[in-house]
Amino acid sequence: MKKTLELSNGSTMPQLGFGVFQIPNYGDAKKATLQAINAGYRLIDTASAYMNEKAVGEAIKDSGVKREDLFVTTKLWIQDMGYEATQKAIDQSLKRLGLDYLDLYLIHQPLNDVYGSWRAMEEAYDAGKLKVIGVANFENDRLQDLMMNNRIAPMVNQIELHPFRAQFDRVRWLQEHGIVVEAWGPFAEGKNQIFSNPVIQRIAKAHKKTTGQVILRWLTQRGIVVIPKSVHEERIIENANISNFDLSSAEMKMMGTLDQKRSLFGNMHDPETVATLGQAHFDYDKM
Ligand SMILES: NC(=O)c1ccc[n+]([C@@H]2O[C@H](COP(=O)([O-])OP(=O)(O)OC[C@H]3O[C@@H](n4cnc5c(N)ncnc54)[C@H](OP(=O)(O)O)[C@@H]3O)[C@@H](O)[C@H]2O)c1
Repeated sequence: MKKTLELSNGSTMPQLGFGVFQIPNYGDAKKATLQAINAGYRLIDTASAYMNEKAVGEAIKDSGVKREDLFVTTKLWIQDMGYEATQKAIDQSLKRLGLDYLDLYLIHQPLNDVYGSWRAMEEAYDAGKLKVIGVANFENDRLQDLMMNNRIAPMVNQIELHPFRAQFDRVRWLQEHGIVVEAWGPFAEGKNQIFSNPVIQRIAKAHKKTTGQVILRWLTQRGIVVIPKSVHEERIIENANISNFDLSSAEMKMMGTLDQKRSLFGNMHDPETVATLGQAHFDYDKM
Protein backbone atom coordinates (compact mmCIF):
# COMPACT_ATOMS: atom_id res chain seq x y z
CA MET A 1 0.00 0.00 0.00
CA LYS A 2 1.10 3.58 -0.55
CA LYS A 3 2.23 4.91 2.81
CA THR A 4 1.15 8.49 2.12
CA LEU A 5 -1.27 10.23 -0.22
CA GLU A 6 -0.69 13.60 -1.83
CA LEU A 7 -3.11 16.42 -1.08
CA SER A 8 -4.15 19.23 -3.41
CA ASN A 9 -1.87 21.72 -1.63
CA GLY A 10 1.18 19.53 -2.34
CA SER A 11 1.56 18.15 1.20
CA THR A 12 1.07 14.50 2.13
CA MET A 13 -0.99 12.54 4.62
CA PRO A 14 -0.48 8.98 5.95
CA GLN A 15 -2.88 6.43 4.45
CA LEU A 16 -3.21 4.60 7.77
CA GLY A 17 -4.43 6.35 10.88
CA PHE A 18 -5.90 5.62 14.28
CA GLY A 19 -9.44 6.74 15.21
CA VAL A 20 -10.41 7.51 18.80
CA PHE A 21 -14.21 7.88 18.61
CA GLN A 22 -16.12 6.39 21.54
CA ILE A 23 -13.16 6.27 23.92
CA PRO A 24 -14.42 8.92 26.35
CA ASN A 25 -12.42 7.74 29.36
CA TYR A 26 -9.17 9.73 29.79
CA GLY A 27 -6.98 6.77 30.73
CA ASP A 28 -8.32 4.50 27.98
CA ALA A 29 -7.97 7.17 25.29
CA LYS A 30 -4.41 8.01 26.31
CA LYS A 31 -3.41 4.34 26.53
CA ALA A 32 -4.90 3.38 23.15
CA THR A 33 -3.35 6.41 21.42
CA LEU A 34 0.06 5.60 22.88
CA GLN A 35 -0.26 1.95 21.85
CA ALA A 36 -1.16 3.08 18.33
CA ILE A 37 1.80 5.43 18.03
CA ASN A 38 4.06 2.67 19.37
CA ALA A 39 2.59 0.30 16.76
CA GLY A 40 3.61 2.73 14.00
CA TYR A 41 0.46 4.78 13.37
CA ARG A 42 1.38 8.39 12.61
CA LEU A 43 -2.09 9.81 11.87
CA ILE A 44 -4.40 10.27 14.87
CA ASP A 45 -8.04 11.19 14.25
CA THR A 46 -9.87 12.86 17.12
CA ALA A 47 -12.62 15.51 17.38
CA SER A 48 -13.73 18.05 19.94
CA ALA A 49 -17.00 16.10 20.16
CA TYR A 50 -15.12 12.92 21.17
CA MET A 51 -14.14 14.76 24.36
CA ASN A 52 -10.70 13.14 24.40
CA GLU A 53 -8.43 15.74 22.79
CA LYS A 54 -6.62 16.24 26.09
CA ALA A 55 -5.82 12.54 26.46
CA VAL A 56 -4.67 12.35 22.84
CA GLY A 57 -2.41 15.36 23.43
CA GLU A 58 -0.89 13.72 26.51
CA ALA A 59 -0.23 10.51 24.57
CA ILE A 60 1.46 12.50 21.80
CA LYS A 61 3.65 14.26 24.35
CA ASP A 62 4.58 11.00 26.11
CA SER A 63 5.22 9.10 22.87
CA GLY A 64 8.53 10.85 22.26
CA VAL A 65 7.76 10.90 18.52
CA LYS A 66 8.76 14.18 16.88
CA ARG A 67 5.85 16.52 16.23
CA GLU A 68 6.67 16.80 12.53
CA ASP A 69 6.44 13.01 12.17
CA LEU A 70 2.82 12.96 13.39
CA PHE A 71 -0.34 13.94 11.53
CA VAL A 72 -2.97 15.09 14.01
CA THR A 73 -6.57 15.62 12.96
CA THR A 74 -9.38 17.14 14.94
CA LYS A 75 -12.84 18.40 14.01
CA LEU A 76 -15.15 21.35 14.49
CA TRP A 77 -18.48 20.42 16.07
CA ILE A 78 -21.84 21.97 15.08
CA GLN A 79 -22.15 24.08 18.25
CA ASP A 80 -19.01 26.01 17.17
CA MET A 81 -20.03 26.78 13.60
CA GLY A 82 -19.72 30.37 12.36
CA TYR A 83 -16.72 32.67 11.77
CA GLU A 84 -15.90 33.83 15.30
CA ALA A 85 -16.92 30.63 17.08
CA THR A 86 -14.66 28.66 14.75
CA GLN A 87 -11.68 30.91 15.44
CA LYS A 88 -12.19 30.22 19.15
CA ALA A 89 -12.78 26.49 18.64
CA ILE A 90 -9.51 26.08 16.73
CA ASP A 91 -7.54 27.74 19.54
CA GLN A 92 -9.33 25.66 22.17
CA SER A 93 -8.63 22.38 20.36
CA LEU A 94 -4.97 23.37 20.02
CA LYS A 95 -4.83 24.13 23.73
CA ARG A 96 -6.45 20.84 24.77
CA LEU A 97 -4.11 18.92 22.48
CA GLY A 98 -1.07 20.90 23.65
CA LEU A 99 -0.10 21.71 20.06
CA ASP A 100 0.63 24.90 18.13
CA TYR A 101 -0.69 23.64 14.80
CA LEU A 102 -3.03 20.94 13.49
CA ASP A 103 -2.16 18.80 10.50
CA LEU A 104 -5.80 18.50 9.48
CA TYR A 105 -8.93 20.30 10.65
CA LEU A 106 -12.34 19.14 9.47
CA ILE A 107 -15.86 20.54 9.63
CA HIS A 108 -17.49 17.57 11.36
CA GLN A 109 -20.99 17.88 9.85
CA PRO A 110 -22.41 19.86 6.91
CA LEU A 111 -24.74 21.81 9.20
CA ASN A 112 -25.17 25.35 10.58
CA ASP A 113 -22.96 28.20 9.30
CA VAL A 114 -20.56 26.22 7.11
CA TYR A 115 -19.46 29.26 5.08
CA GLY A 116 -18.54 31.41 8.10
CA SER A 117 -16.57 28.50 9.55
CA TRP A 118 -14.79 27.84 6.28
CA ARG A 119 -13.62 31.48 6.08
CA ALA A 120 -12.16 31.21 9.59
CA MET A 121 -10.47 27.96 8.59
CA GLU A 122 -9.00 29.55 5.44
CA GLU A 123 -7.50 32.31 7.59
CA ALA A 124 -6.09 29.84 10.13
CA TYR A 125 -4.64 27.89 7.19
CA ASP A 126 -2.97 31.07 5.86
CA ALA A 127 -1.60 31.72 9.36
CA GLY A 128 -0.08 28.21 9.52
CA LYS A 129 -2.27 27.04 12.42
CA LEU A 130 -3.97 24.49 10.18
CA LYS A 131 -1.78 22.70 7.64
CA VAL A 132 -4.67 21.04 5.78
CA ILE A 133 -8.37 21.88 5.86
CA GLY A 134 -11.29 19.72 4.91
CA VAL A 135 -14.76 18.46 5.73
CA ALA A 136 -16.56 15.34 6.87
CA ASN A 137 -19.92 13.92 5.86
CA PHE A 138 -20.38 16.34 2.95
CA GLU A 139 -22.31 15.09 -0.07
CA ASN A 140 -20.66 15.93 -3.38
CA ASP A 141 -23.24 18.60 -4.25
CA ARG A 142 -22.53 20.52 -1.01
CA LEU A 143 -18.80 20.21 -1.69
CA GLN A 144 -19.22 21.54 -5.21
CA ASP A 145 -20.98 24.62 -3.84
CA LEU A 146 -18.33 25.12 -1.13
CA MET A 147 -15.58 24.90 -3.75
CA MET A 148 -17.30 27.37 -6.08
CA ASN A 149 -17.83 30.00 -3.42
CA ASN A 150 -14.54 30.00 -1.52
CA ARG A 151 -10.87 30.71 -2.10
CA ILE A 152 -9.56 27.35 -0.88
CA ALA A 153 -11.17 24.04 -1.83
CA PRO A 154 -11.50 21.35 0.85
CA MET A 155 -8.56 18.96 0.59
CA VAL A 156 -10.14 16.00 2.41
CA ASN A 157 -13.66 14.59 2.87
CA GLN A 158 -14.05 12.04 5.69
CA ILE A 159 -17.09 9.87 4.99
CA GLU A 160 -18.74 6.61 6.05
CA LEU A 161 -17.07 3.88 3.99
CA HIS A 162 -16.99 0.13 4.61
CA PRO A 163 -17.93 -3.01 2.68
CA PHE A 164 -21.67 -2.44 3.27
CA ARG A 165 -21.39 1.17 2.05
CA ALA A 166 -18.83 1.17 -0.74
CA GLN A 167 -19.81 4.55 -2.27
CA PHE A 168 -18.06 3.91 -5.60
CA ASP A 169 -19.51 6.92 -7.48
CA ARG A 170 -19.07 9.35 -4.62
CA VAL A 171 -15.42 8.32 -4.12
CA ARG A 172 -14.70 8.52 -7.85
CA TRP A 173 -16.05 12.09 -8.03
CA LEU A 174 -14.03 13.17 -4.98
CA GLN A 175 -10.83 11.66 -6.31
CA GLU A 176 -11.39 13.20 -9.75
CA HIS A 177 -11.70 16.58 -8.01
CA GLY A 178 -8.44 16.15 -6.10
CA ILE A 179 -10.09 15.60 -2.73
CA VAL A 180 -8.55 12.87 -0.59
CA VAL A 181 -11.16 10.45 0.72
CA GLU A 182 -10.88 9.23 4.31
CA ALA A 183 -13.04 6.31 5.47
CA TRP A 184 -14.72 6.56 8.83
CA GLY A 185 -16.18 3.42 10.36
CA PRO A 186 -14.11 1.16 8.06
CA PHE A 187 -15.41 -1.85 10.05
CA ALA A 188 -18.96 -0.44 10.17
CA GLU A 189 -18.30 -0.40 13.93
CA GLY A 190 -18.70 -4.18 13.85
CA LYS A 191 -22.30 -4.08 12.54
CA ASN A 192 -23.80 -6.90 10.42
CA GLN A 193 -21.24 -9.34 11.88
CA ILE A 194 -18.69 -7.83 9.53
CA PHE A 195 -15.72 -9.68 11.04
CA SER A 196 -17.30 -13.07 10.28
CA ASN A 197 -18.75 -12.21 6.88
CA PRO A 198 -18.26 -15.34 4.70
CA VAL A 199 -17.16 -13.42 1.57
CA ILE A 200 -14.51 -11.50 3.49
CA GLN A 201 -13.51 -14.64 5.40
CA ARG A 202 -12.89 -16.52 2.15
CA ILE A 203 -10.56 -13.78 0.87
CA ALA A 204 -8.84 -13.52 4.24
CA LYS A 205 -8.16 -17.25 4.29
CA ALA A 206 -6.59 -17.13 0.83
CA HIS A 207 -4.12 -14.48 2.01
CA LYS A 208 -3.64 -15.85 5.56
CA LYS A 209 -4.91 -12.52 6.85
CA THR A 210 -7.76 -11.51 9.15
CA THR A 211 -11.08 -10.17 7.88
CA GLY A 212 -10.23 -6.78 9.40
CA GLN A 213 -6.99 -6.62 7.43
CA VAL A 214 -8.79 -7.51 4.19
CA ILE A 215 -11.34 -4.73 4.74
CA LEU A 216 -8.62 -2.15 5.34
CA ARG A 217 -6.63 -3.36 2.31
CA TRP A 218 -9.75 -3.16 0.11
CA LEU A 219 -10.10 0.50 1.10
CA THR A 220 -6.42 1.44 0.81
CA GLN A 221 -6.22 -0.24 -2.60
CA ARG A 222 -8.94 2.19 -3.69
CA GLY A 223 -6.66 5.10 -2.69
CA ILE A 224 -8.60 5.81 0.51
CA VAL A 225 -7.23 6.76 3.95
CA VAL A 226 -8.34 4.42 6.78
CA ILE A 227 -8.62 5.26 10.49
CA PRO A 228 -9.70 2.07 12.31
CA LYS A 229 -10.38 2.33 16.04
CA SER A 230 -9.63 -0.26 18.73
CA VAL A 231 -8.89 -0.27 22.43
CA HIS A 232 -7.19 -3.68 22.23
CA GLU A 233 -3.45 -3.63 21.60
CA GLU A 234 -3.40 -6.87 19.60
CA ARG A 235 -6.08 -5.46 17.25
CA ILE A 236 -4.30 -2.09 17.01
CA ILE A 237 -1.20 -3.97 15.83
CA GLU A 238 -3.20 -6.27 13.54
CA ASN A 239 -4.98 -3.36 11.85
CA ALA A 240 -1.65 -1.69 11.06
CA ASN A 241 -0.27 -4.80 9.39
CA ILE A 242 -1.83 -4.33 5.95
CA SER A 243 1.03 -3.38 3.67
CA ASN A 244 2.38 -6.80 2.70
CA PHE A 245 -0.40 -8.19 0.49
CA ASP A 246 -2.64 -7.13 -2.41
CA LEU A 247 -6.18 -8.14 -3.32
CA SER A 248 -6.67 -9.30 -6.91
CA SER A 249 -9.15 -7.44 -9.11
CA ALA A 250 -11.53 -10.42 -8.73
CA GLU A 251 -11.28 -10.13 -4.93
CA MET A 252 -11.83 -6.36 -5.12
CA LYS A 253 -14.99 -7.07 -7.13
CA MET A 254 -16.17 -9.70 -4.62
CA MET A 255 -15.81 -7.15 -1.83
CA GLY A 256 -17.90 -4.76 -3.94
CA THR A 257 -20.82 -7.22 -3.98
CA LEU A 258 -21.37 -6.59 -0.24
CA ASP A 259 -22.45 -2.99 -0.89
CA GLN A 260 -25.94 -2.25 0.48
CA LYS A 261 -25.89 1.28 -0.96
CA ARG A 262 -27.15 2.92 2.22
CA SER A 263 -25.83 4.25 5.48
CA LEU A 264 -25.78 1.97 8.50
CA PHE A 265 -25.66 5.03 10.76
CA GLY A 266 -28.78 7.05 10.01
CA ASN A 267 -30.04 9.17 7.17
CA MET A 268 -28.54 12.66 7.02
CA HIS A 269 -31.37 13.71 4.70
CA ASP A 270 -33.94 13.05 7.41
CA PRO A 271 -34.90 16.28 9.26
CA GLU A 272 -35.13 14.35 12.53
CA THR A 273 -31.51 13.21 12.23
CA VAL A 274 -30.45 16.78 11.49
CA ALA A 275 -32.41 18.04 14.50
CA THR A 276 -30.83 15.44 16.79
CA LEU A 277 -27.32 16.23 15.58
CA GLY A 278 -27.89 19.99 15.68
CA GLN A 279 -28.99 19.78 19.31
CA ALA A 280 -26.11 17.57 20.44
CA HIS A 281 -24.07 19.79 22.74
CA PHE A 282 -20.76 18.63 24.21
CA ASP A 283 -18.69 19.79 27.14
CA TYR A 284 -15.26 19.25 25.60
CA ASP A 285 -13.40 19.70 28.89
CA LYS A 286 -15.48 17.12 30.75
CA MET A 287 -12.88 14.38 30.59
N1 LIG B 1 -16.40 12.10 10.79
C1 LIG B 1 -17.33 11.36 11.37
O1 LIG B 1 -18.51 11.71 11.40
C2 LIG B 1 -16.92 10.06 12.01
C3 LIG B 1 -17.90 9.16 12.43
C4 LIG B 1 -17.49 7.95 13.01
C5 LIG B 1 -16.14 7.68 13.14
N2 LIG B 1 -15.20 8.60 12.74
C6 LIG B 1 -13.73 8.32 12.87
O2 LIG B 1 -13.46 7.06 12.27
C7 LIG B 1 -12.82 6.21 13.23
C8 LIG B 1 -13.16 4.76 12.99
O3 LIG B 1 -14.55 4.53 13.04
P1 LIG B 1 -15.30 3.92 14.29
O4 LIG B 1 -14.47 4.08 15.50
O5 LIG B 1 -16.65 4.53 14.32
O6 LIG B 1 -15.51 2.39 13.95
P2 LIG B 1 -14.65 1.21 13.26
O7 LIG B 1 -13.22 1.56 13.23
O8 LIG B 1 -15.35 0.86 12.01
O9 LIG B 1 -14.91 0.01 14.25
C9 LIG B 1 -14.46 -0.03 15.56
C10 LIG B 1 -15.00 -1.30 16.21
O10 LIG B 1 -14.35 -2.44 15.64
C11 LIG B 1 -13.69 -3.18 16.66
N3 LIG B 1 -12.43 -3.66 16.10
C12 LIG B 1 -11.38 -2.90 15.70
N4 LIG B 1 -10.42 -3.66 15.17
C13 LIG B 1 -10.85 -4.94 15.23
C14 LIG B 1 -10.30 -6.18 14.83
N5 LIG B 1 -9.11 -6.25 14.21
N6 LIG B 1 -11.02 -7.31 15.05
C15 LIG B 1 -12.25 -7.26 15.64
N7 LIG B 1 -12.82 -6.10 16.06
C16 LIG B 1 -12.13 -4.95 15.84
C17 LIG B 1 -13.51 -2.22 17.81
O11 LIG B 1 -13.55 -2.91 19.05
P3 LIG B 1 -12.49 -2.64 20.23
O12 LIG B 1 -12.26 -1.15 20.33
O13 LIG B 1 -13.19 -3.22 21.43
O14 LIG B 1 -11.25 -3.37 19.84
C18 LIG B 1 -14.75 -1.33 17.68
O15 LIG B 1 -15.87 -1.97 18.26
C19 LIG B 1 -13.35 6.76 14.56
O16 LIG B 1 -12.63 6.30 15.67
C20 LIG B 1 -13.27 8.24 14.32
O17 LIG B 1 -11.94 8.69 14.46
C21 LIG B 1 -15.58 9.78 12.17
